[in-house]
Amino acid sequence: MIIDTKNLSEDKIYKIMISTIAPRPIAWISTVSKDGIYNIAPFSFYMGVSSSPPLVAVSIGKRDDDRKKDTWKNIEETGEFVINVVTYDLVEKMNITAAPFEDYVDEFQEAGLTPLPSDLVKAPRIKESPINIECKKFMILDIADMGLVFGEILRYHIDDTLLNEKGYIDNKKIKLVGRLGGADYCIVSAENIFTLKRPDKR
Ligand SMILES: Cc1cc2nc3c(=O)[nH]c(=O)nc-3n(C[C@H](O)[C@H](O)[C@H](O)COP(=O)(O)O)c2cc1C
Repeated sequence: MIIDTKNLSEDKIYKIMISTIAPRPIAWISTVSKDGIYNIAPFSFYMGVSSSPPLVAVSIGKRDDDRKKDTWKNIEETGEFVINVVTYDLVEKMNITAAPFEDYVDEFQEAGLTPLPSDLVKAPRIKESPINIECKKFMILDIADMGLVFGEILRYHIDDTLLNEKGYIDNKKIKLVGRLGGADYCIVSAENIFTLKRPDKR
């Protein structure tokens, strides 16, 4: 089968894109508005960009009424955010925070999550998530209806049991969740991890 994007509706393109770019990590982003309201939302069009400087990029869209999503607006206005990882035990709460709450709603309260102060940014961290990543806005590119938000990582907060002696997160312990197409997800668990050494590395 051959599918040209120019003959497809936006909806069909979206479906093929999100099920071929898979699995995707989820940036569960907590922010605070300029009026002090806490916000949380998940984003899976998310990637690492560079380690020097340490940059990530997250693609954030608009609401159905064409307003920027609260996360985009808050990052634009405050310049700060926290990325929290999503583990299997947190998926239901993550899903609650994907609802289109109005910007005056505190999504920590809606999802039953606990805000913790960050050290270097005003945006709160999610206590229940074992890894919180404090970021500051590096730049935002306006691309069609999306804001491609580049963030510089300032500080990691990592559960002490998760970092191994080689400096990696122990993915056999943490049960990270990935997003697939539609409402499907996958879990990173000990039995589906394998090791493959690169030919050019010892
Ligand atoms: C797992 C998951 C991944 C998502 N990824 C994205 C994404 O990459 N970009 C986006 O604009 N919306 C994404 N969404 C939808 C947003 O989370 C949703 O629109 C949310 O209400 C935005 O909240 P906010 O207005 O508080 O920022 C995703 C939803 C889920 C459940």
